[in-house]
Amino acid sequence: MKEKDLLGLLELPAEEIDELLTLGMKMKERLRRGDKSLTTLAGKSVVTLFYENSTRTRTSFELAAKFMGAQVVNISASSSSVQKGETLVDTGKTLDAMKNDVIVIRHPMGGAPHLLAKTVKAHVVNAGDGMNEHPSQALLDMLTMRENFGKIEGLKVAILGDIRHSRVAKSNLFGLKKLGAEVSMYAPKTLIPEGLDKMGAKICSSREEAVEGADVVMGLRIQLERQKGGNFPSLGEYAKYYGANEELMKYAKKGALVMHPGPVNRGVELTCGLIDGETSRIEDQVLSGVAVRMAILTLLTEEKRVC
Ligand code: CP
Repeated sequence: MKEKDLLGLLELPAEEIDELLTLGMKMKERLRRGDKSLTTLAGKSVVTLFYENSTRTRTSFELAAKFMGAQVVNISASSSSVQKGETLVDTGKTLDAMKNDVIVIRHPMGGAPHLLAKTVKAHVVNAGDGMNEHPSQALLDMLTMRENFGKIEGLKVAILGDIRHSRVAKSNLFGLKKLGAEVSMYAPKTLIPEGLDKMGAKICSSREEAVEGADVVMGLRIQLERQKGGNFPSLGEYAKYYGANEELMKYAKKGALVMHPGPVNRGVELTCGLIDGETSRIEDQVLSGVAVRMAILTLLTEEKRVC
């Protein structure tokens, strides 16, 4: 990778996305064989700096780094000196002073990883910044699609749910469009951000229109922590009118994949039947997550190692 940091897919060239997916696929094959003992990051350190909760992203970055021989330290804002008023930049400088190599950051404010990246020597990886981007999630989603279909180009991906508050939707839109997929989106009007069509999404007027002929149907979690409420009447009505169910899947291609970045609100964004069904790839996405994060850490640190 040319840049010091991975901050988003909006600015990442298609060739670099492709390179990450190609290496991610090799890592996934290794993981399936039970090979978890690379030495690529031996002598390197990775700090995960999380100002928001996480299960998948934080754990998979930690495992990815450890499977490649790195030392890993996890910091959560609730137990760090952030609680004593330390700024993000000062926190980053403190980690730099300890000769740390990579910071994986999740932050509720869009742009926080970009500010950190400008002010620290370490490589910075955006693990989700507010409503802006979640690049490693989109990369793992694309890896899962590429493994299943052999390519991204020409795929039709339908994304349903809380698009306004979703950094996953935006990163997927940027990445999928760069690799030649078609992206259809549907949500209550209150959960569609302005200008989404200009970013390349096809905004649909019904969930059936969005899913028609789709290869992949992706549900998104309702981000209740980022909204004051009032965007839809109730979770029950959301599930009935905006969620994905078995009836809706009849509009998609036969055997279309069901995906979700997690965590899933069972029975709201997707029915339990779809989550646990044969075409669900939700658990496989989790394995792709470790693999693609191994690829990210490898390509970011190679040839630009900070001493
Ligand atoms: N998809 C995702 O970011 O999950 P976590 O919040 O558990 O990391």
